[in-house]
Amino acid sequence: MSPHHTPKSHLPPLLGRGPQGVFRRTLPSEQPADKRMVRTLGLTQLTMIGIGAIIGAGIFSLASAVARNVAGPAVLISFLVAGAASLCAAFAYAEFAGMVPKAGSSYTYCAAVLGEIVGWIVGWDLLLEYTAIVAVVAIGMSGYLGFLLDAVGIHLPTWALGAPGTGDGHRVDVLAAAICLAVAWLLTRGTRTSARVETVLTIIKIGIVLLVIVVGFTKINTDNLTPFAPFGISGAFTGAATVFFAVFGYDALSTAAEESVESRKKLPKAMMLSLAISMVLYVLVCIVLTGVQRYTDLNPSSGISSAFAKVGLNGLANVIAVGAVIGIVTVTFSFMMGASRLWYALSRDGLMPAWFGAIHPKRKVPHRATWVIGVVSAVLAGVLPINAVAELTNIGVLLAFVVVSAAVLILRYTKPHLKRGFRCPGMPVVPILGMVFSVWLMSFLEWETWVRLGGWLVVGLVIYAAYGYRRTRRVMPGGSVDLDALDDMSDSDEPAPDPEREPAR
Ligand code: ALA
Repeated sequence: MSPHHTPKSHLPPLLGRGPQGVFRRTLPSEQPADKRMVRTLGLTQLTMIGIGAIIGAGIFSLASAVARNVAGPAVLISFLVAGAASLCAAFAYAEFAGMVPKAGSSYTYCAAVLGEIVGWIVGWDLLLEYTAIVAVVAIGMSGYLGFLLDAVGIHLPTWALGAPGTGDGHRVDVLAAAICLAVAWLLTRGTRTSARVETVLTIIKIGIVLLVIVVGFTKINTDNLTPFAPFGISGAFTGAATVFFAVFGYDALSTAAEESVESRKKLPKAMMLSLAISMVLYVLVCIVLTGVQRYTDLNPSSGISSAFAKVGLNGLANVIAVGAVIGIVTVTFSFMMGASRLWYALSRDGLMPAWFGAIHPKRKVPHRATWVIGVVSAVLAGVLPINAVAELTNIGVLLAFVVVSAAVLILRYTKPHLKRGFRCPGMPVVPILGMVFSVWLMSFLEWETWVRLGGWLVVGLVIYAAYGYRRTRRVMPGGSVDLDALDDMSDSDEPAPDPEREPAR
C-alpha cells in the first residue's frame, strides 16, 4: 500500500482524511497465504450464485401478493421498474468488482473511495440486512416445506410450526431455523463443495421456472390480462417498491471477489448475466401468473402453485412448490455467504474482532463468521414473524446502492486512469439514475423502517467509536492509501505482478 499524499484541509484531524481521520481511505492489504481464501469460482458458478441470490421469495411469494393487492397484471411493470433501478446500481457494482479484487463488496468499495467511516456504516448496515434476508427467506420457505411434508404424511407438532403470534399454539419455526443451520453447515464445508451444491440447486430452480413458463403459456386466458392496470400506473409503481426485493442479490455475489478466478473480469460478467437472466424469467412468469389466474383470485403466499392447481395442474403445482423451496434455499445460501465474507472483510481490517474473520486452515472459509450468522439468522427466523424481519431488508440494500453509485461516479472523475475490468455505461447518467431510483424506492417504505435503520446505524457508530476506530489504526497503520495501489492487486492465485513493471494504464 503506498502512502497517500494528504491535501491540506481545514477540517479537524478527526474529521479529515489523514491517518487519524475517520474519512481516511483504506484498502485491504494482501493477507498471508494461510489466512487467505482460495480462488475456485469460475464464471458459471459465479453466475449461478448470482441467480441463486436473485430468484427466490420475491417471485415465488411477493409477485402474487403485489398483483392481487396493488398492481393487477401491471405487476409486470412493477418488476420492470424495480429491475431498471437495480440495473443502474448493478452497473456501478460491476465497475467496482472490475477494479477491486477483494472481499467485502460495498464495504470495501466505499472505504476505498469515501473513507473508512462510510465503509463501516455501509458494511454494518449490510451485515444486518443480509442476515435478515437469510431469516426472511427461510421463514418464507418453511411454509412451502411444511405444506410438502404434510402432503407426504409428516405432520410437525403445532408448537413447531411458526414463531409466537403467527398461529394458535405456535412457539418456534423449527423448519426455518433448521434451514439456516443446515446452510451454515454446508458453507463451512468449503467454497468449492458448497458452490457445487448451489449450482445444482440453481439449475433445478431455473428448470422449474422454465417449466412454469412453457406450460403456463398454454394456459393463459387473455381475458385475465384486462384491465391491465386496474390500480392505475401508481399501483404499479407502489408495487415496484415491494418487488424490489426480487431484483437484488448480485450485490451479495460481489462479496465473493477473493474466491473468484480472475475476479476483475468474471465477477462483473456474472453480475450482469445473473440479473439479465433473472429479469427475462421474471417478465415471462408475471405474464403467466396473471394470465393463468385472474389477479383478484391469486393466492398471496403460494401464488404460482395455486394458480396452476386452479387450472387442474395439481402435479405441476406440487413441483412448483418444490422449486420454491429449492429456490429459497439458494437465496439463503448466497446471502449467508455474502454476510460471512462481509464479516470476514470487516474483521480483517480491524473493524470487528479478528477472531470472527479467521479462515479455517483446511476448508479456507471464514467458518466462525459463518456459524455466527447461521445461529443469529436461525434465532431470528425461529422466533420472529416474517413481516417484522422483512421490513429490515429493502431499505438497507437501497442505502448501499445509493452510496455505491455515488462512489463509482466520484471515482470515475477523480481516478479515471485506474484499471477497470468493466466500465459502467452512460456516465454520469446511469449512476445518478441509480441513486435517484433508490432514494425514490426508499421513500415508499414505512417510517418505522427508517427508525429501525437509524437505530442500527447509531449502534454501529457507537461500536466504531469504542472499538473499530482505534483497532483499524493498529491493523492498517500509515493512514490513507493511494487508490493507484488497486492496479497492483492480484485477482488470481498466480504471483502478484512484478512491482518493477510499468503498470498498464
Ligand atoms: N432477490 C431475493 C429473493 O427474491 C432476495 O428472494
